[in-house]
Amino acid sequence: MYNSKIIGLGHYVPDNVVTNDDLSKIMDTDDAWIQERTGIKTRRWIAEGSEDTSAVMGAKAARIAMERAGVTNKDIDFIVFATLSPDYYFPGCGVQIQEMLEMDTIGAIDIRNQCTGFVYAISTADQFIKTGMYKNILVIGAEFHSNGLDKTTRGRGVSVIFGDGAGAAVLTREEDPTKGILSTHLHSEGKYADKLIVESPSIAKWVPELMDNPEDISYFPYMDGTFVFKNAVVRFSEVIIEALEKNNLSKDAIDMLIPHQANLRISQFVQRKFGLSDDQVFNNIQKYGNTTAASIPIALTEAWETGKIKDNDLVVLAAFGSGFTWGSVIMRW
Ligand code: UT7
Repeated sequence: MYNSKIIGLGHYVPDNVVTNDDLSKIMDTDDAWIQERTGIKTRRWIAEGSEDTSAVMGAKAARIAMERAGVTNKDIDFIVFATLSPDYYFPGCGVQIQEMLEMDTIGAIDIRNQCTGFVYAISTADQFIKTGMYKNILVIGAEFHSNGLDKTTRGRGVSVIFGDGAGAAVLTREEDPTKGILSTHLHSEGKYADKLIVESPSIAKWVPELMDNPEDISYFPYMDGTFVFKNAVVRFSEVIIEALEKNNLSKDAIDMLIPHQANLRISQFVQRKFGLSDDQVFNNIQKYGNTTAASIPIALTEAWETGKIKDNDLVVLAAFGSGFTWGSVIMRW
């Protein structure tokens, strides 16, 4: 059995910056409410007429990650793509990446685990590398939320939170068992699927049915924010503890925690719970909002780019979101 480790990171966000004041011009909201409840100051939304999509942004982030990793399209053995906002109902974005990056006819899968998507994607890639089946795997998280949000006062509890963007990582085989990914931990609780959901169009409720019922807005995301928040703080903490215990490590061993950027208040709660300093937790939700499967790889990339992650650091990734799903990755950089 091998370990796997990240050898290249990249991210891409659209140029178009949307401020809280911009939102207050199209719905009943204000900068003070958004900042106080979420920490968000701006987010990126793909501009009208742009060619960016989840797959296109994912490919842009992937090119940067691959260049930094020193690998070419010929070196990648497999693609794992996490998104809840794919370009097509099917096929998934993974196969688009195979085409866009002119790769050989390698395998590609999509992961549908929303805010926990990147953690699930990393865990999936890790298993393939551990067994020796693949050596280099491209893992991408990307979201194009802005086209699917209810940008009226009716949808303000959700739409002010989400942003567009993509992040990517190249994982490779690591021979040293004390380095790279030490363990990953995945969970789900489907009884709360309806607490954060985009219900349609689905095969059960296809497009013509929606068109016949203009009142039906189940194609917009629905979130029971308070319920999700309460579960998030508990599950984030649990799954970080699970990762530490599995590796006989204490919370003092954490050098860098990258939480999924759901809400700054959630990150701050977790930071306090584990007694971590501001230097030990990376947040960028203030700039990008919640980019779901892209949030961890974007944050991880920025933490690495700014020198906040160094060789031998213990890095923990943790996420919680729709499903419910939650999970963690613990690695020795
Ligand atoms: O990433 C996946 C996982 N997602 C999360 O973890 C998100 C978890 N939940 C949250 O982050 C928070 O619940 C929210 C930020 C979504 C909402 O914050 P909250 O403190 O739970 O607010 P609330 O939903 O209880 O709403 C409080 C008030 C309501 O008005 P009333 O009923 O008290 O008069 C809302 O209508 O705030 C109102 N409100 C807004 N006001 C201004 C809701 N959205 C807005 C808005 N601007 N955008």
